[in-house]
Amino acid sequence: MAKITASVFTSHVPAIGAAMDLGKTHEDYWKPVFAGYDFGKQWIKDNKPDVIFLVYNDHATAFSLDLIPTFAIGTAAEYEVADEGFGPRPVPKVIGHPDLAAHIAQSVIQQDFDLTIVNKMAVDHGLTVPLSLMFGEQDPVKGAWPCPVIPFAVNVVQYPVPSGRRCYNLGQAIRKAVESYDEDLNVHIWGTGGMSHQLQGPRAGLINKEFDNAFLDKLINDPEAAASIPHIDYVREAGSEGIELVMWLIARGAMADVAGGKPPKLAHRFYHVPASNTAVGHLILENT
Ligand code: DHB
Ligand code: FE
Repeated sequence: MAKITASVFTSHVPAIGAAMDLGKTHEDYWKPVFAGYDFGKQWIKDNKPDVIFLVYNDHATAFSLDLIPTFAIGTAAEYEVADEGFGPRPVPKVIGHPDLAAHIAQSVIQQDFDLTIVNKMAVDHGLTVPLSLMFGEQDPVKGAWPCPVIPFAVNVVQYPVPSGRRCYNLGQAIRKAVESYDEDLNVHIWGTGGMSHQLQGPRAGLINKEFDNAFLDKLINDPEAAASIPHIDYVREAGSEGIELVMWLIARGAMADVAGGKPPKLAHRFYHVPASNTAVGHLILENT
């Protein structure tokens, strides 16, 4: 049986990817950001997943106003790295896991979540920056990410976006789906994006440390309360792009305690401001 053994949560600030790609990680501005991921880099070597189910958002890269899936599961064998305006990031293409992805699609749709199936999609900073943060630099041609990745794209760009509650319930369905897959696979689920940030309008630059840390507390210890946060609170308190945080609830909903198991172990917690326009948050939770 496949099992979700851990969840990883992280912001996906594109400038973090640029700092890595341009060799700036040792600059004073960036040092404390990357230091917060030293633990995770070692942890993931020691707890290597067979597959990562990576919940992220596309930023009008693969999708656009022409087509807006609320939840889209990648069932392809591989995914190109997107060109977001400066050429594709110099990182390896992403190898998928079509068989497990197709199984999860079947199971989750039968549990009444209507997913969009995606067989061709370029992945943007929402997916590649979290991989870079956890796995470090990789040769774009000779290198490879250490394991297959199932991209799971959530619309948090164009309203109406899904509620935190819907995301949390979906996480539970994903857990059931993974646990009904025959092969013994160690699966990690990642919730990415956030934390507080607003990129536009009069409140551009907004950061809310109190909201972010209260969100982390709730996500760890009282995920039901975190799932009850309405959209308006994210937008008011965490800025227009703070709504990316609903994606963290999908990963949290997939953890064992939600299904009546033991509470997850908090292996790592990190919070740092600033990184570009965004507050960086990072958690690792383990199912015990
Ligand atoms: C920034 C953050 C994001 O989440 C994003 O998608 C784009 C830019 C930023 O902090 O600059
Ligand atoms: Fe973003």
